[in-house]
Amino acid sequence: MQLIDGKAIAAQINAESRAAVKELMGRGVTPGLAVVLVGADPASQAYVRNKDKTCRELGMYSEKHELDAATSQAELLALVQRLNANPAVHGILVQSPPPPQIDERAIVEAIDPRKDVDGFHPVNVGKLALGDADALVPCTPLGCQRLLVAAGIETRGANVVVLGRSMIVGKPLAMLLMAKGVGGDATVTVAHSRTRDLAAVCRGADILIAAIGQPEFVRADMVRDGAVVIDVGINRVAAPDSPKGSKLVGDVAFAEVAPKCRAITPVPGGVGPMTIAMLMQNTIAACRRAGG
Ligand code: GUN
Repeated sequence: MQLIDGKAIAAQINAESRAAVKELMGRGVTPGLAVVLVGADPASQAYVRNKDKTCRELGMYSEKHELDAATSQAELLALVQRLNANPAVHGILVQSPPPPQIDERAIVEAIDPRKDVDGFHPVNVGKLALGDADALVPCTPLGCQRLLVAAGIETRGANVVVLGRSMIVGKPLAMLLMAKGVGGDATVTVAHSRTRDLAAVCRGADILIAAIGQPEFVRADMVRDGAVVIDVGINRVAAPDSPKGSKLVGDVAFAEVAPKCRAITPVPGGVGPMTIAMLMQNTIAACRRAGG
């Protein structure tokens, strides 16, 4: 069984990003990312902190905006508009999910699609569906695809089951994997909570990608011997024996699934670091397209 080391692969990509930033700075341009968090959800705070930190480590310009949980739609829209107009900011990310008074769709649509490094804007969703080379593609799906390529796992002709149909992961990932080319050319099935005989569908997978957001949902009976399993889940669960009283687990019951696999990603240290590495790559790409 091969343990796919997302941390190490992300570190390689970050080294490439650092070199790209250096080259851009030599030409007088510094790629810049603005991350916006509304409210004080601890998991979201940790993600935003990590994004800001990685940005700085790579020599990029970073702006972190942590807004009060009671921030209004109009206030958030005004911030997005300021960031759209700021030439030092090439990428804008508003952490999801926002509090209930925020209309997330309207916020996403207010972001300049050229700065939409999350790839959530309808223009970028459309470009991905069309296969346009200048689409900004959501970071987690991009990270899953890069992980498969870097780990030497052939997707061409493979039966891939994507478990989950979200706009952040499942849907865009299905589009990436079915596209032509390296890391694509797969036969993709998108399964979800309403799929009939889900376990049997999952057992048909050469590559099973779990993005369903439920702790340890994928059990051993859902995985074929010799399958590759990519675990996108990050779930905090109670763990009375651990010092913190909680721990992170994926969407896969790792202990029982791993022995059956040809390769599997751990949680943490699998897809998570790749998501941030791809965010940095998207920001650099947006900077280049802006004339950097
Ligand atoms: N929340 C969970 N994943 C993501 C992501 O990739 N981008 C944003 N903006 N919010 C998220």
